[in-house]
Amino acid sequence: MIFGILRPGLFALDPETAHALTLTALKCSPRTAPPAAGPLAVTVAGLHFPNPLGMAAGFDKDAEVPDALLGLGFGFAEVGSITPLPQAGNPKPRLFRLVEDRAVINRMGFNNRGSHRAQARLERRVGRNAGIVGINIGANKDSPDRTADYAVMTRMMAPLASYLAVNISSPNTPGLRALQDEGALAALLDAVIEARGSSTAPIFLKVAPDLQPADIDAIARIALDRNLGALIVSNTTISRPPLKSPHAGETGGLSGAPLRDLAQQRLRDFRSATGGVIPLVGVGGIASAEDAWARIRAGASLVQLYTAMVYGGPGLPRRITRGLERLMQRDGFSSIAEAIGSE
Ligand code: FNR
Repeated sequence: MIFGILRPGLFALDPETAHALTLTALKCSPRTAPPAAGPLAVTVAGLHFPNPLGMAAGFDKDAEVPDALLGLGFGFAEVGSITPLPQAGNPKPRLFRLVEDRAVINRMGFNNRGSHRAQARLERRVGRNAGIVGINIGANKDSPDRTADYAVMTRMMAPLASYLAVNISSPNTPGLRALQDEGALAALLDAVIEARGSSTAPIFLKVAPDLQPADIDAIARIALDRNLGALIVSNTTISRPPLKSPHAGETGGLSGAPLRDLAQQRLRDFRSATGGVIPLVGVGGIASAEDAWARIRAGASLVQLYTAMVYGGPGLPRRITRGLERLMQRDGFSSIAEAIGSE
């Protein structure tokens, strides 16, 4: 309701300024407990999620507001991507609203204040706060050894994370997605698993939607072999389905409604490639309870969103979880676990 009144004001600002204001508002918002486990509770990779809807990475890059996000009704929040060293990212403008398409194009380029600031913040919340917070890790653009960056990040963040999300699928760091190639990916995950040491945080791997069938099979094999906690499908796309907005030609990753069908298809592809053995996190273009339900029925154990928050506002997570409860009842399922992959 209030968002409906504020939205034109926010949309009059450039998107990065609007985002900074949103983060400030969340920082100042009164503390609310994370959602309690209810009919939507689901266990994935040994973690008990109160509901399957999470905030995707990129919204809270510096781990400033994970608890406020849980307070909005998200069942989990993924912070990051965080890189070892602070990084300015690409020159502005680098974030575009495609209002007519309910979409966003971004070429942020892993702007973040670096691992030490995030670590200090995350250390302060350990023990004091309930709720599932995943930490999404990346590599610095100018790093001479990107695999080493992921290992450093794993060592720092595994003790603070409910799960670690290894992000090798951002289109805005040149060469990063080459880490999805079979040999590079196997070596990277071995380094991450070794760096995790005795921490029990499961490792989730976040992939791009722009993959060929052979890539999908190779990633699935490696994920099964390394016993990953989950695959997050997917990041933004560099493809361009038909778009109406004047910003359609901007370089970067496209997210929101035009990504929905592609991300859902990739989720199905990964479900068949993994035989349903590795849990999947469905992300890309989810904006409603119906979208989330379709993704779960297609094989997602958990779902995430980001772009829909830009258009739907802070009431969206609760609208979606309430709607999911209704859809689960309507279709005669007694739990999320029962509905996963039931399409
Ligand atoms: C992202 N996303 C993202 N993902 C990631 O793993 N690390 C990151 O730092 C970011 N940064 C980021 C910034 C912006 C502005 C956007 C819009 C997105 C990708 C995001 O987590 C998600 O995978 C996609 O946006 C698709 O989901 P939605 O937005 O269609 O719900």
